[in-house]
Amino acid sequence: MKASAPGKVILFGEHAVVYSRPAIAVPVTQIHVDVEVLDSPRKGIWIQAPSIDLRAELDSLPDDHPIGSAILKVFSTLRLSSPLGSGQGEGLEISIASTIPVAAGLGSGAAVSVALIRALASHLSSPLSDEQVNSLAFEIEKFHHGTPSGIDNTVITYAKPVYFMKDKPIETFKVGKPFTIVIGDTGIPAPTKESVGAVRRLRMRDQYAIEDIFNEIAQIALIGRRSIESGKPELLGELMDQNHEYLQALTVSSPELDTLVEAARKAGALGAKLSGGGRGGNMIALVDQPKAESVAGALIAAGAKRAIITEIK
Ligand code: PMV
Repeated sequence: MKASAPGKVILFGEHAVVYSRPAIAVPVTQIHVDVEVLDSPRKGIWIQAPSIDLRAELDSLPDDHPIGSAILKVFSTLRLSSPLGSGQGEGLEISIASTIPVAAGLGSGAAVSVALIRALASHLSSPLSDEQVNSLAFEIEKFHHGTPSGIDNTVITYAKPVYFMKDKPIETFKVGKPFTIVIGDTGIPAPTKESVGAVRRLRMRDQYAIEDIFNEIAQIALIGRRSIESGKPELLGELMDQNHEYLQALTVSSPELDTLVEAARKAGALGAKLSGGGRGGNMIALVDQPKAESVAGALIAAGAKRAIITEIK
């Protein structure tokens, strides 16, 4: 059985979302994880994931391994004490192929979980609902991030633009008019845990000022959603620029991210900001479609390790 899950970017609202403000994230279908589960004559559950150099039997993985945990969580959700005996073979072969860069804020961890959970549950003849997939993937996200908001697993499970608020019902929404963004990768791995921790310490020192910033970011996310839904994506450029300034004030930008943001604007982007945890990872720029290639080229010239052009629709 096969399943696939896209990458994602956060358009607006990262960090503030951890403090219950809204954020907007969209799937990025050019990058994806593909999982295949097959019966195997060989005993045991064998996992191969070349992009993270993994070839192992389930029992040999540490208890908190995200892939091992995802597999075990599927079994326990389906109330299976053993996964075996489900098909003709003795064991299972699970192959995980990913084109999503790891630790780059593009959702690679959540995409592996979502695709793996879906492929495995379907292989065991018990496909899970989106709600079940999402909640299992959220459990796994906790291994990666500690205290994730849940935005990654949600946008990736539903593979639609999401207006996300912690502990609120999931709101997907429609794109009134497609628009193009360019994603620039600093190539600097940036553990989300660390930037989230830095914002937490900042807030402990100056709660009122930081809450004010979160409120401004919440407004940006709200106006951003309206602009997207009403088919006025050109308004997002200005909002991205403003959101980036607030993220700088939260100390989660970096010289490399600022350089890429500036380079995109100089090359004609309508606006740009860091995306995700920050301090490395990715930035995004809104562009008129014909300018996409030249903005992507400008990002590479300014030091980006890769640039991805994607249409949000
Ligand atoms: O770095 P990413 O794309 O996984 O995004 C992190 C987003 C934060 O708001 C910083 C953290 C979170 O859990 O929402």
